[in-house]
Amino acid sequence: MTTRHFLTLRDLSSDELRNLVKRASELKDIRNRGEVYEPLKNKVMSMIFEKSSTRTRVSFEAGMAQFGGHAMFLSPRDTQLGRGEPISDSARVISSMVDVVMIRTFSHKLVQEFAANSSVPVINALTDEYHPCQLLADMQTYFEHRGDIQGKTVTWIGDGNNMCHSYINAARQFDFKLNIACPEGFDPDMTLVEENKERVFITRSPQEAVTNSDLVVTDVWASMGQEEEQKEREEKFTGFQVSPELMDHANQDALFMHCLPAHRGEEISMDMMEDPRSVVYDEAENRLHAQKALLEFLLVK
Ligand code: CP
Ligand code: NVA
Repeated sequence: MTTRHFLTLRDLSSDELRNLVKRASELKDIRNRGEVYEPLKNKVMSMIFEKSSTRTRVSFEAGMAQFGGHAMFLSPRDTQLGRGEPISDSARVISSMVDVVMIRTFSHKLVQEFAANSSVPVINALTDEYHPCQLLADMQTYFEHRGDIQGKTVTWIGDGNNMCHSYINAARQFDFKLNIACPEGFDPDMTLVEENKERVFITRSPQEAVTNSDLVVTDVWASMGQEEEQKEREEKFTGFQVSPELMDHANQDALFMHCLPAHRGEEISMDMMEDPRSVVYDEAENRLHAQKALLEFLLVK
């Protein structure tokens, strides 16, 4: 059997994604009941981090431990990856010793090259282009609070970044409409938009975008690796802030999500995280359950 990878949401079928999100809620119940479930006993995951992380590292490491396995943190500072060892050699060697590899890095091509040379599943834990693991948690959170997202309207406010790209993929795989409100010059990848043009709509008006929406999502204005653009972006993104007042233009039962970390006073108002429509902390916790469902899907036959 060929090795399955999870580099974008397109690597799984719509049915597989739906089942995975439902399974994530079951795994959450199992953990909340205090039941021990260890399908990955003696399995090892390598976690390669070339960018910072709180949620991704803690959720994968805790998830592997709860499943009876082990997770190993690798930073480029301490491995030969940081000294220029070819990705293909690293992939062949690391994958010969472990059962699954998770990578957070800058270049999406690097993750693709690693996967092409890996004998075990590779999981994209964020690249400059995509963040599919976050979308598993976001979809699980929507399903848990409001039921099926099929046919709903989601609005993305802010940068056309890695999270926005994954929302475009999610719109296709979970069958929802996606409004994107971003400042000029910060549009998402236009090829991706074009491929999904029957369900993805771009506007410059946050208020127009959120009208009739069931879910509103945002993210930082400057992503990891764009720190030097912070000041310039703060000016260009003025007006693209999600606040309770903006949420009032959405549907009455609309939810608010943010992958975190959040910058209060920039992409969200000071009070948005604590607004009753915000489910950001459930969303963050669901990283654990959704990724356990992903690990089970990739590793338990
Ligand atoms: N949302 C997310 O991926 O968080 P971390 O950067 O803390 O992993
Ligand atoms: N777009 C953000 C997401 C962080 C989880 C970044 O890439 O830094």
